[in-house]
Amino acid sequence: MRSLISILDFSVEELADLIATAEDIAANPEKYQEACRHKTLATLFFEPSTRTRLSFEAAMLELGGNVLGFSEAGSSSAAKGESVADTAKTVSNYANIIAMRHPKEGAPFVASQAATIPVINAGDGGHQHPTQTLADLLTIHREMGRLNDLVIGLCGDLKYGRTVHSLIEAMSRYSGIRFVLISPKELRLPDYVRCNVLDAEGIPYTEVTSLEEAIPQLDILYMTRIQRERFDDAAEYERLKDSYVLTAQKMEHAKKNMAVLHPLPRVNEISVKVDEDPRAAYFRQTLNGKFMRMALILKLLEEAKQNSIREAVDTDGWVYDKVCTNAKCICQTEQELPMAAELIEGVYRCVYCEKKVQ
Ligand code: CP
Repeated sequence: MRSLISILDFSVEELADLIATAEDIAANPEKYQEACRHKTLATLFFEPSTRTRLSFEAAMLELGGNVLGFSEAGSSSAAKGESVADTAKTVSNYANIIAMRHPKEGAPFVASQAATIPVINAGDGGHQHPTQTLADLLTIHREMGRLNDLVIGLCGDLKYGRTVHSLIEAMSRYSGIRFVLISPKELRLPDYVRCNVLDAEGIPYTEVTSLEEAIPQLDILYMTRIQRERFDDAAEYERLKDSYVLTAQKMEHAKKNMAVLHPLPRVNEISVKVDEDPRAAYFRQTLNGKFMRMALILKLLEEAKQNSIREAVDTDGWVYDKVCTNAKCICQTEQELPMAAELIEGVYRCVYCEKKVQ
């Protein structure tokens, strides 16, 4: 069963397909308004959320589907000690797909191991937030017209900011990307991203503390909030919380076509005056998140359907990556019948019509 736990679960080609689907949804919403009829999304949110939960719910409703779930751990049986795995197994009986946010890192992965339906990581602690990255990718693509050859500044809480970790993993797979990591030294990017992704892949980056000095070179400025809820030491949060504030004055030193992104919520790290600047893309980013989540739901539900069809008809030695072009073959017309082939005497043949397949 395919889930989305890390952005690396999807290839660059699959991300391009999701962007194309999201653009088509944005342009032709009526085409998709019945696409998930009789399907149900469960939103299991053990942590607060505005954008992620509501955009998932809006996405499913606009696809003609249904939504159920909870928005805080205290209103679920987690409050009585139920495990993530048991919750996921139970909800698999009530829904077709799960979006889960949880304060513990890896919780959606555990859910995906236990569930019999696809699970989407909607944010796990300070770890990953792959669907925010889907919103970010569509936003960068729309604002800049490309996903390569970009200087990307990431500013603020790079230690606990899960959206930053997922975005770096995603953007490191495109060519010509350079990162400028702007943070206090206490909030540097964690080793598992800096060493395992940037150093391992040879992606160029610099670590700096001054937003003012970094801003003129940037194509994208990705601002983040200092994540109060992840600090063990309240005094340290108080000391660091005002590290960066993007103002209209600082924007004067930025490129004319630089795009400002922020996963939101904002506290004080972007002055509201910047909202009037056409380069401020963060509210457009929230809309893009809905389109990408619609595309994601469609993809995962379609794959789940194909998997269950394959499981039902699976036979030893059948392969599913060949195409039968025989117009008279039943596979061309029978609904939901997978194309399947067998290797016979060195030739792949359609299992239905026995014609050669490519
Ligand atoms: N960007 C984001 O995850 O926002 P919410 O916490 O409001 O879902």
